[in-house]
Amino acid sequence: MHQKLVHLRQQMDFQQNISLKAYNTFGLEVRAEQFASFSNEEELVEGLDLCHAEPSLILGGGSNILLTKDIPGLVLRNEIPGIDISPWNDETYIVRAGAGMVWHDLVSYCVENGLGGIENLSLIPGSVGAAPMQNIGAYGVEIKDVFHGLEALHIPTGEVHRFGLEECRFGYRESVFKRSLKGQYVITRLELRLSKNSTLNTSYGAIEAELERLGKAPSIQSISEAVINIRRSKLPDPQKIGNAGSFFKNPVIESERFEEIRSRYPDIPNYPAPQGVKVAAGWLIEQAGWKGKDLGGYGVHDRQALVLVNRGQATGEKLYRLSKDIIASVHEKYGITLEREVNVI
Ligand code: FAD
Ligand code: EPU
Repeated sequence: MHQKLVHLRQQMDFQQNISLKAYNTFGLEVRAEQFASFSNEEELVEGLDLCHAEPSLILGGGSNILLTKDIPGLVLRNEIPGIDISPWNDETYIVRAGAGMVWHDLVSYCVENGLGGIENLSLIPGSVGAAPMQNIGAYGVEIKDVFHGLEALHIPTGEVHRFGLEECRFGYRESVFKRSLKGQYVITRLELRLSKNSTLNTSYGAIEAELERLGKAPSIQSISEAVINIRRSKLPDPQKIGNAGSFFKNPVIESERFEEIRSRYPDIPNYPAPQGVKVAAGWLIEQAGWKGKDLGGYGVHDRQALVLVNRGQATGEKLYRLSKDIIASVHEKYGITLEREVNVI
């Protein structure tokens, strides 16, 4: 056992008491008691052995977490690399990527190689492995639309299991890995089914307007470019101002309840959803007076009220309290309870 640990420390650069500031896009100064990165399943199993199969946190790019306190125990960061493409039929290919790859690098690779299906998901921060966790989505596309399968390592046993579309139970920013299998698996590989002849999705209003502005016909490449431009104009770059994207989900409410609210607020942006009507949380938060708010070095973004920002003085506790205040204020005004999208750790 001792020899195994020495080997592990050399291979995995096992560290003690390290700052996670560079590992979370809010840029919050929080420390981990122990930290190691893994580049393959064997290293992951060794890391799990070390913490008796009880890791404190599995970390990807840290772009969907709010760290509220120092973390005791072991943080394991996923750095499994690699991309591999194999034909499925004449036009369709299975793209298999390591879960530690940067999501946008995978998108760029596919866009450059004319493989369509994830161009609308350009520039979403984070890792490939976290993408199916919450079924990332943007500009009319979700990962479930092109999902082929994934491999995940079962933390208690170290066995690798394969999951198909049905088993993942994808929903709006939801999957089985956030619900009944929470904390049970580390996603290690993702497979997407992409096509040289995919249906282009320009249904999200701003895309068509941006393509027109660029003077370009819709293609895998031009849609990616348009999405990147739109995102840059609305969302803060975490390198410059700490954030984790949308802090809350857009709430889905019952149709009758929606009609009652719409009678009072006819402008409320809304979209059809499976169990009712989805309303824009950014609009609700803006109307409640929070957009651009600064509480002393942290607050709400001035171009997108769904995004909480660290302007240099935030702590996880402060941001969490702000999110509670926003939830209370939106509830008071509209009777709607917002749910956090960001994982509070
Ligand atoms: P992390 O923050 O590292 O982890 C998130 C959660 O997943 C944690 O609970 C973690 O334990 C778990 N986890 C991570 N990796 C694994 C794994 N391999 N196996 C098991 N569990 C794991 N999201 C969207 O859907 N659409 C958007 O348009 C969008 N825009 C964004 C814009 C900005 C500027 C930012 C900062 C974020 C945005 N996000 C968006 C949110 C974020 O990019 C996604 O949720 C992303 O998938 C998170 O990836 P990550 O690797 O950073 O995850
Ligand atoms: N709106 C406002 N005020 C605001 C923000 C938005 O009135 O401050 C209104 C807009 O005018 C528009 C509507 O709300 O009518 C929707 O806004 P937007 O198109 O910016 O999208 P969103 O619903 O705020 C969602 C996702 C984003 C994703 C975009 C594009 C959620 C929680 N957020 O934002 O995902 O990139 O659509 O598809 O579903 C993320 O999950 O982190 C994320 C950034």
